[in-house]
Amino acid sequence: MRKITVIGTGYVGLVSGACFSEIGNRVICCDVDEGKIKRLRRGEIPIYEPGLEELVKRNTEAERLYFTTDVGEAIEASDIIYIAVGTPMSETGEADMRYVMSAAKKIGEHLNGYKIIVNKSTVPVGTGELVREVVSANKKVPWTTFDIVSNPEFLREGSAIADCMSMDRAIIGSDNREAAKVIAELHAPFKTHIFFTDLESAEMIKYAANTFLATKISFINAIANICERVGANVVDVSAGMGLDSRIGSKFLQAGIGYGGSCFPKDTYALAHISDKAGYDFELLKSVIRTNQKQRYVVMDKLRDAVGGLSGKQIAVLGLAFKPETDDMRYAPSLTIIPELLKQGATVRAYDPVAAESAKRELPSGVQYCERLEQAVNGADVCVILTEWKDIMSMDLALVRSLMKHPVIIDGRNCFDLEVLERFGFQYHSVGRPP
Ligand code: UGA
Repeated sequence: MRKITVIGTGYVGLVSGACFSEIGNRVICCDVDEGKIKRLRRGEIPIYEPGLEELVKRNTEAERLYFTTDVGEAIEASDIIYIAVGTPMSETGEADMRYVMSAAKKIGEHLNGYKIIVNKSTVPVGTGELVREVVSANKKVPWTTFDIVSNPEFLREGSAIADCMSMDRAIIGSDNREAAKVIAELHAPFKTHIFFTDLESAEMIKYAANTFLATKISFINAIANICERVGANVVDVSAGMGLDSRIGSKFLQAGIGYGGSCFPKDTYALAHISDKAGYDFELLKSVIRTNQKQRYVVMDKLRDAVGGLSGKQIAVLGLAFKPETDDMRYAPSLTIIPELLKQGATVRAYDPVAAESAKRELPSGVQYCERLEQAVNGADVCVILTEWKDIMSMDLALVRSLMKHPVIIDGRNCFDLEVLERFGFQYHSVGRPP
């Protein structure tokens, strides 16, 4: 049993903290946001993540998981301190490091004995050393010592708990072998592949992994756009490519482009890091541009299919950036819906989980529907932006009978072409013949 403090109860901190407590450690999760901590103490989870509520409840009741706003006291009470605060995209596209730096300052001020400081936030290469300097500069007790470890996270929203409890690998970067060994032992119950490296390489692995996955997505989206022009079907192309074990079938699903809190932020951040380091990462910049344009590819299909948007009633199915989350960050719906409203369309939106968070992000004028059937009722066209299970398994005969015109623009390739044809829909998807 280890005593662990996790600074930051965002998606990464909360899931990691809960999973560390699940494997028998005593974990204190802290945050400066009083409202959030109060809610967590009552067992209310600020994000939608399947299984998280039960996990938090179980471990809170077992007195292995605690929540506090007293960050200083939480630091003093543990010997492993995880920094899991946000590194949002700043206006320049770089990672905003202010929360990491303030966590480092706080750790320095409350360093009351030897501690291992582990960075889990996604940070530019060199941040580990910066944290070391800030902690040292803020030490109140001169004799105290510490080591720095980088242990980036690879959780996906919507499957975060499974990804953590049976992770593919744990990357552990440090210049101190003993500290790295302690963090490796902490991961032993996860029965995962442990990969030891230096601090800088661990920081780079996180960016390289995320931007590589983003590259796969932009690549297949570009192939999809060509498929449309030459009469090929991207679903088959991607399946055929994926059979090559060197390529693999994952992250080759063409669609409306990637969103979320990670890929957009990390692709921009790595482009900045490389510019600063004197390397023009043209490939990555092109990945970003391809992704931005992909939303408009779907938008253009929509406009072409209904011949102008003014006065049209549009059913938007799916608002979150992907299924099984209520996260709206960089969701395609945030680009598409304001554009539809601007062009004079009426928007009736349905999302099984994200409607409440969408209301905070989208302009007023959107009508939110509790049920999918309400959104499609009387619609001139239906646009699918998120591949939620209930959207993929919707009753096509019913939807066909409710819509004014049976037109579906599918940004996620949810349906078989033949099935939609059989139901009498005019169906436009991505990278497949209409
Ligand atoms: C991503 C990574 O997959 C995680 O490994 C990483 O830990 C996380 O970022 C992070 O840095 O915190 P996440 O953003 O939760 O996880 O979601 P993904 O499942 O990776 O999807 C990202 C975006 O790519 C979504 O918009 C999704 O719709 C899109 N996508 C994904 C595609 O368009 N096509 C695909 O084939 C796969």
